[in-house]
Formats: sequence, C-alpha cells, structure tokens
Amino acid sequence: MNKHIYEKIEQLRKEINNLNYRYYVLAESKVSDYEYDTLLNELIKYETEHPELVTPDSPTQRVGSDLTKTFNPIVHKVPMLSLSNTYSEEEIKAFDERVKSGLEGEEKIKYVVELKIDGVSSSIHYKNGLLHNAATRGDGKIGEEITNNIRTIRSIPLRVEETKSFEVRGEVFMSLKDFEKLNEERKANGEKIFANPRNSSAGTLKLQNPKEVAKRPLDIFTYYLLSDNLKIETQEENLEKLKQLGFKINPNYELCENIDEVINFCRKWEIKRDTLPYEIDGVVIKVNSISQQNRLGSIAKSPRWATSFKFKAKQVITQLKKVTWQVGRTGAITPVAELEPIVLAGSVISRATLHNADEIERKDIRENDFVKLEKGGDVIPKVVGVDFSKRSIDSVKLLIPTLCPNCKSELVKSENEVALYCVNKVCPAQIKGKLIHFASRGAMDIEGLGEAIINLFVDKGYLKSFADIYNLSKFEDELKSLEGFGEKSIDNLFDSIEKSKAQPFHKVLFAIGIRYIGAGVARKLTNAFNTIKKLKDATVEELEDVDEIGPSISRSLVQYFSEDENIMLIDELINKGLNFAEDISNSKNQNLNGLSFVVTGSLSNITRDEAKEKIISSGGKFVSSLSKKTDYLVAGENAGSKLEKAKTFGVKIISEEEFNNLLNNTI
Ligand code: IVH
Repeated sequence: MNKHIYEKIEQLRKEINNLNYRYYVLAESKVSDYEYDTLLNELIKYETEHPELVTPDSPTQRVGSDLTKTFNPIVHKVPMLSLSNTYSEEEIKAFDERVKSGLEGEEKIKYVVELKIDGVSSSIHYKNGLLHNAATRGDGKIGEEITNNIRTIRSIPLRVEETKSFEVRGEVFMSLKDFEKLNEERKANGEKIFANPRNSSAGTLKLQNPKEVAKRPLDIFTYYLLSDNLKIETQEENLEKLKQLGFKINPNYELCENIDEVINFCRKWEIKRDTLPYEIDGVVIKVNSISQQNRLGSIAKSPRWATSFKFKAKQVITQLKKVTWQVGRTGAITPVAELEPIVLAGSVISRATLHNADEIERKDIRENDFVKLEKGGDVIPKVVGVDFSKRSIDSVKLLIPTLCPNCKSELVKSENEVALYCVNKVCPAQIKGKLIHFASRGAMDIEGLGEAIINLFVDKGYLKSFADIYNLSKFEDELKSLEGFGEKSIDNLFDSIEKSKAQPFHKVLFAIGIRYIGAGVARKLTNAFNTIKKLKDATVEELEDVDEIGPSISRSLVQYFSEDENIMLIDELINKGLNFAEDISNSKNQNLNGLSFVVTGSLSNITRDEAKEKIISSGGKFVSSLSKKTDYLVAGENAGSKLEKAKTFGVKIISEEEFNNLLNNTI
C-alpha cells in the first residue's frame, strides 16, 4: 500500500515540478490555476496522511518551513565580488584595453554581455541533486542564510539532474507589475510603500516568515554557475548549462566578437530598457573565456575580467510654467513646480516639489526655465537642475515670498530649519489643511467631508476647528439650502459625522495632527499609553522608552500638551464623545495574524472600511484583489464575480458571521 502511495506522490511531484518549470522558467502556461492547485492540494493531502514520505524537494516544501528567528551567517567560499562601473563608451574602451594588456596581447578576446538586473544577488548551493542552502551577498565574504525564503521562488528548482555539488548565483527581482500591485496593497493596509522594485525584493528576502515571502512574487535570473566538478570553459557555456539544469536565465545576452559590438549592445539596451517588464540599471560585460578570466584575476573587491556599464538615470526636460507656494497644515510653505506635463518612466508628471527656498536659490530655478526631471532611487520625480542654454534673456530671479500666500501674514524662518512658516493660527489655508487631514479616511473617516466641501465650509464660516464639525447640525437649514446640497446629502453627512465618534483612540490621535505623529506612531503611542491623560502626563524620557519614539516625536508631544488651547480643544472633543482612550478589550487581539482577506459584496453590520480596520488591527492583511494566495474571501450580500474566482482559486469563502467569529476567536 505504501509503495502505491509513494508512487502516486512521486508522480504528483513530477507533474507539479514540470508545471512549475513551464510556468515560472519558460513562461508557458499549461494548465489553469485551478488545475494546478488541485494537484498541489492532492499532494498536500497525501503528505499530511504520510508525513514520513515528505522530502525537502517536494513542491509542498516551498512554503512549509517555520519562522526564521535569526539569519545564520554563511561564508562564501568564493567571495561574491562587486563590479567596477563604466559610464561612457570611452570607459568601456579603456576596460577593453586593460583586459588586453592584462592578457599580454593575447589574440582573441570575446565578451558576453548580459543585462544588469536591478535586484538583489543571491548564492544557492546544490548537493546530491537537491537545493542545499542559500545566502545573501552580505559583505561579499559572509552572507546571511535565506534558504527558506529562496525556496519560495518557483523558478528555482528544488531538485536537479546533477548529483555533483555546485553553486548558482543570480539576481532576485520583482517584476514591475508585481511591485506596483504589492505597493497598492501596502497602501491599502496603511503600510509604507517600497520606493522601487529592488527595495521590495531586498525587504522581502529578509522577511522572517517564509509564508509571507511566498505570497510576494519574487523571481530570479541566474547568471553564474560555480563548480570544481563540472567542466565549463566559457561564460556562454555557463549560461547554457544553467538553462539545461532548469534554471531561469535572462534570454537577452549576446556573445560579442569585439568591444564595438559590446558598445552597440549597451546603446541598444539603454534605449530599450523601458520595454522590459522588470528593471535593469545597466549591462554587465564579461570576458567569455574562463581561463582568460582566471588569468586576469581580481583586484580588491572586483574582478578584472568584468565590468558594468551603468545607464544614466532616466531624465527628461520640460518647461516650468509657474511656481506656486503651498501652505501645509503645519504652516510650512512649500514651493511647487507647475510643469508642462511630460511622461517620465511611464507616468505623466505635471507637478514636482521644489522643497524650499534655499533649494531654488542653489539651483537658480526660475519661472519659464526648462528644467531637468529625474526619477531617482524613489518614485517621486525630482527637479535636478536647469537647462541654462534654453533660458530666455529676459528671465528674472524668482521672488521668495515674505507673506503667507493665503492669509498674508508675515512668514518666519526658524534658526535650524530651511522651511518658511506661516505662524498665524487662524490662517484659512492651515485650517483647511488640518480639517482635510482630520476628516480623511485614515483618520476620522468622515464620508462626504472631502476637500471641496471643507474649503467651502471654511470660506462660509461654518468651520474653524475640529470641534465645529460636531456642531454643524446647528446650521442644518442653511446647509440644506446651499446650492448643490440636497437634504439627503446633508443627512448623510451628519450620519457619517456621528459615526466618526466611534473611531478608536489611535485614529483620533492621528487625526488631531500633532507634528511627527503619523498613523503608525499614533498606534504605538496608544498601545503604550492607553488614555490621553497618561499620554499628556508622560515625560520625554517615558515617551522615548517606547520602541521607535525618538526625541523629535517626544518633544513635539510635550510641546503640544503644554499649550492651553490644545488642551481646550481635546476637552471639547471629549465632550463631543470622541475616543481618547483605547478599548483595551480589543487592542491585544491578534487573531488574524498573517492571514490575508478580501472583502466583497455588502456586509450588513459593518462597512468595508470597518472590516478593513478590524482585519488590520487584528494582525491580518486587507488585500484588494483576489489571488490564490489569499486566505479568506469575506462574502457579503450580492458578492459578484469574486465569489466564482475564489472557488476557482480554492480560497476559503466565509460569511460575515463567520468573519466575526474568526475575529472574536470563537472558531
Ligand atoms: S555578475 C563578479 N551578472 O550586479 C561578478 N551581476 O555590481 C559579479 N547583477 O552583485 C556578478 N545582473 O547583484 C552579474 N547579469 C549579471 C547581473 C549582475 C545584476 C548585480 C549583482 C552584482 C552586482 C555587481
């Protein structure tokens, strides 16, 4: 009987491995996700019944491991070197000259040119045909063990048809599409977004929970096979051998007969880089012959036989039409460049921050100038300089304002800060900014009280402070007769204002907009000090004892609570019924830790946003789109296509009641 089951398990593994290879390495989709999951679930079932038959190379073991407490150090027997950089044709030619003289005029030098994938390098060891361990580059000599995380990458084979030991090196990366999707989800969950795909790959590889890693779509291009046992004579053969063993290599490499062909390849890909679904930041140029590589050897940290050609940061030039000075909710005045719209790295840019007056002065930026825009290491476009050759002769220096563009009060610049501030406490622009923040989704979440309505209500004199929001009903008749507002919309607004009183303490603390208190910090503070009284009475030292609370935050809090008008405002808000104490019964509930949820259809007792908040505060993840990695679909009434999709993916579907039970730990 066991023999039969053993054979069945082996056959399932073979089938799944083959599908994995076709899908993740060759990018051929052979079967539907449903069929794939059915096979995997069948295998899981057999292995659960017969744990003695589980092997480390089983496809079920890609996500099966426990939390990694610490990352063990792994010594790289062959150091993982970095590459010298070149930035121009001249520098590439100089590299070629150095190679030639290093080989003492040897006749033929061929180069293999590969795309330089912008990810994180990793080293993976195989022994007796099985994936043995994997490590990060670390400092090049000692890396950190990340075997369980590397196993989750489905384009990496767990078993190979080669019993001799070898090491594979490659670049772990995330495709642009997957990176954007991950950031969207992080945004929806109130988590910090990753600046670029490289950071998101690095962050993911260092996660302590391989189950979390498995949910994030990492991929790899391998570029190097090291072995004392396998006879490989060139880099080209090296790549072919990797391919033959079932590894994924980047197909866009070329063998060049001379340095001019190398330069052409670099030029071609500098232009074509945007057509790829992943990011590259250059080209790696490698001497093809391994015996030549060995003769050239290495200096300090990089080999003499290879170099990288780095692309220039993507840059465009556009006209700066106007500089507007914006008043933030803290009173800080920020210059913003209004630009002639232009596409840069896939998105249309029409505005960019100029940070502060000093920055404008330093770069000598003027209106009507043609400015150079770059997207650097992060997603925010930067004005990096002016194209002075295009400046018109009648151009004049930009005037730095001395008065607030909104309330016309005198601006001040404090000693240690570069920003200009409007210190008028009743400046309408600041009041509007504060109210917009207060009512926003992440704060008091008052539906129907968006930017346009706040601006109008402040201009009409209905709103001056947070507390006024809770007195708006005094103006019921007037509001209902305002143009564009029906009875119903005002009634709805009153309803959502009333509902906002149930927002938890940490949301209220975030909403009142104390300097440096973001959503995450507010949560940390209310976990440590569960009432406003405790928070108000806390000393700088007590505040700094809290994880991640530093001097700026603690000083800002103490300053805030030392001002009478702030204390009066809090008292007023307490009187209106807002929460200034954390509901302790709920705060430690982490029932949904590590689980991901999609909510669909209408729920009867709570809104989608409330469900989202509950999921997040209980340690779960709120995800907007369904995938086979989603743990639960909470299906309300009239749940549409997501229901079918969940069935196909094999995602567990639960009702609102079951969701509540899960939250309250009663199932
Ligand atoms: S070869 C000594 N090939 O670039 C040989 N590296 O600055 C070094 N990289 O640490 C590696 N794509 O993270 C090589 N096709 C490729 C690469 C590549 C990306 C990264 C790798 C390395 C860094 C060197």
